[in-house]
Amino acid sequence: MEMGNQFIGSIGALEHSIAHAELTAELSYDIIFNLGYPRREAELAAIAGYLHDIGNLIHRYRHGTWGAIMVFEILSEMGMDPEEVTTIMGAIAHHEEQAGGYSVSNVSAAVILADKSDVNHSRVRKNDATSFTDRDRVNYAAKDSSLFINAMERLIVMNLTIDTEVCSVMDYFEIFLTKMMMCKRAAEYLGCRFDLVINDVQLL
Ligand SMILES: [Fe+2]
Ligand SMILES: [Fe+2]
Repeated sequence: MEMGNQFIGSIGALEHSIAHAELTAELSYDIIFNLGYPRREAELAAIAGYLHDIGNLIHRYRHGTWGAIMVFEILSEMGMDPEEVTTIMGAIAHHEEQAGGYSVSNVSAAVILADKSDVNHSRVRKNDATSFTDRDRVNYAAKDSSLFINAMERLIVMNLTIDTEVCSVMDYFEIFLTKMMMCKRAAEYLGCRFDLVINDVQLL
């Protein structure tokens, strides 16, 4: 995973460090566990969350697909139950919005929500703002992001604080629309409503 992060760094991609893997794992676990699903399902979400970007080692393009193929061998060799392996493979393969990803299981929905909520300026590796892509700019603008899960009301709220000097709220919304719609559908898969709040303004 460290080598994969190093490789994609050379093409200017965002930071996909162990910290991103750990955060995605913890949040994926929390989503499933807090919504009242079995603990083992939460553990599978944590494993899928931790490994979801492992395919960057092969290539950034379709890294979800590559990652799913990689973990098949890794987890099978470790003796994991085949049905659990397939759940993790499905979640990894479907986490990318560019590759037409969508929620295929509870675990998959949790990984999508956890992964897409890790938006932070610290993940932008470029020093020169003139070389920023739109995605770099919105990440650079993000000062804080968090996901709030209300099991009683079946509600998942993504809260973002962005620096509007770097990027306006509407720019942010437009650039991240595909990701946010993917999160909305993931929340719905889990039987929840999805609210997106940016700088205290509810946009979804
Ligand atoms: Fe990814
Ligand atoms: Fe990721």
